[in-house]
Amino acid sequence: MHYFNYKNGLLQAEQVDLTQLAEQVGTPFYCYSQRTLERHYRVFNEAFRGMDTLICYAMKANSNQAIIKTLADLGAGMDVVSEGELRRAMRAGVPGRRIMFSGVGKTEREMALALKMGIYCFNVESEPELAQLNRVAGELDKKAPVSLRINPDVDARTHAKISTGKADDKFGIPYLDAVRVYKIAADLEHINVTGVDMHIGSQITQMQPFLDAFSLLRELVRDLRAEGHSIAHVDLGGGLGIPYGDENEIPPDPVEYAETIRTAMQDIDCRLVFEPGRMIAGNAGILVTRVLYIKQGENRRFAIVDAGMNDLVRPTLYEAWHDIWPVRERGKEVQRTRMDVVGPVCETGDFFARERLLPPLEAGDLIAVMTAGAYGATQSGTYNSRPLIAEVLVKDDRHALIRPRQTLDELIRLDVVPCWMDSKCE
Ligand code: LLP
Repeated sequence: MHYFNYKNGLLQAEQVDLTQLAEQVGTPFYCYSQRTLERHYRVFNEAFRGMDTLICYAMKANSNQAIIKTLADLGAGMDVVSEGELRRAMRAGVPGRRIMFSGVGKTEREMALALKMGIYCFNVESEPELAQLNRVAGELDKKAPVSLRINPDVDARTHAKISTGKADDKFGIPYLDAVRVYKIAADLEHINVTGVDMHIGSQITQMQPFLDAFSLLRELVRDLRAEGHSIAHVDLGGGLGIPYGDENEIPPDPVEYAETIRTAMQDIDCRLVFEPGRMIAGNAGILVTRVLYIKQGENRRFAIVDAGMNDLVRPTLYEAWHDIWPVRERGKEVQRTRMDVVGPVCETGDFFARERLLPPLEAGDLIAVMTAGAYGATQSGTYNSRPLIAEVLVKDDRHALIRPRQTLDELIRLDVVPCWMDSKCE
């Protein structure tokens, strides 16, 4: 469910006309709908009404200040994985007690900052990390709240690059080691064991892997309590897939997912923490780009657009499907042809869609690459010296530039020519 719809034959973001917006801000740009973001958070939150939950939005999906403030204002916490995300969360006014720190490679500096902020918990992923956190907390005369991320060796049945719960993945502490490592943690002076964490992957489209993982998690909580650990929360991670328009991939509805978990976790007697990213931000955003040329190759027809893989890498990196909607609506009866939608970057991997059935397009047309709100802007780069693109947030009939397009000057002036190449320098 999202608020991008046609009105009088033109695609709107809520009540904002995208054709006019494109004239104002130029193309390409990301456009997000605040109402959609809010709706997703609320629906998920309300599905757990009456239960003690903390929903920590996984900022890596989209960490723009305006996006995280929208969610923080509704009561969301944040799942952060770097000093940068921690600082972004602080800047948006998220209180420490609603921050979860995840990730396999936290540095001493990141640990110290998070301890000073009084974050809710660290998801610790290895014994050496635990030892380091204990030391850093000791130096600051603090006790670090910790849940151990456990690797349940469950196949999330998602793309290999975003599957994280198999024994061969770099994530978490092996399930069979869990009890032993909890004992070590409990004996450390500056560690306070508070919970258990699992996150088995992203864009998961079936309930079964979640159920398998969470039933192992329940068993572990029982064993840990029997060993005398007090478990105040379980972190069930993120990972719920969303529909991208590919008929072969239909994920569970968020409410169905929530209800299933609610039932499975009803009597666990502790707080439930979630780390959803994509489910919140994914279909709250689109990438608007303009067709530069239509090119007929020997065997294929290409729509060459002004956005590239540097702006949205998902199609090429994960073979991800994104629906393509023309901003000017075409009737259902219009003849569709197979086309590749490609960018200007000098790589064959620079595509948004391949052999996709699309209505006729011509140079100058605007198209929307749908469901680009998560892992779009945050994974963009400047390859081919293409500046980072503008981001716009819409609410009702209003819009605001929430990140201006980077200028070429800003891009180039980051480079430094060493003094020995400069004739003025000795
Ligand atoms: N928690 C942890 C520890 C994570 O590593 C992630 C995502 C999440 C939560 C949020 O997962 P979500 O609810 O968004 O599935 N760039 C990839 C996805 C990478 C996911 C990385 N970790 C993509 O565009 O498909």
